[in-house]
Amino acid sequence: MPFSHNRNPYLQIEPRYARFQEPLVMRGAFLENTNMSTRGLTMSELYKTADFKAEKHVPVIEAPASVKKGELIVIKVTVGKEIPHPNKTEHHIRWIKVIFWPEGAKFPVELGGSEFSAHGESAEGPDKGGVYTEPQAIVALKTEKPGKIIATSYCNIHGLWRSDQDLKVE
Ligand SMILES: [Fe+2]
Repeated sequence: MPFSHNRNPYLQIEPRYARFQEPLVMRGAFLENTNMSTRGLTMSELYKTADFKAEKHVPVIEAPASVKKGELIVIKVTVGKEIPHPNKTEHHIRWIKVIFWPEGAKFPVELGGSEFSAHGESAEGPDKGGVYTEPQAIVALKTEKPGKIIATSYCNIHGLWRSDQDLKVE
């Protein structure tokens, strides 16, 4: 039985859901090839982070530092705000996802995000289409609790990136 070695009860999946184990198989193979622990990846192993002024992949969060309880705010997340990221058929940002982790909550909450599907593809060939979606996502939020806004993004060849920002509630 696949993953019988895995003692984490949350990763024991019923046989009828076996097809969902595929990403875990890939993760296991990756870890074996790199001599890393098979106990699981930490956030910093999976998602890279850096100063957005020096690294073009980091999602940049634009949101107020504090908000009134229940007030509507707009969170904008952009990749390549300071240093533009390439937007070409062979190299581009695929998606941005925005998460909120309320203070004291056991689990984070997915707020929303955007997928970017046009990167110059055309019947004439790569980068011949002339249409490109830019990596910008907007999420409107009301919260009664303070917490941490976490932005994540995915580059088709440079993987997963993240940044975060605290949100206070007055
Ligand atoms: Fe990239």
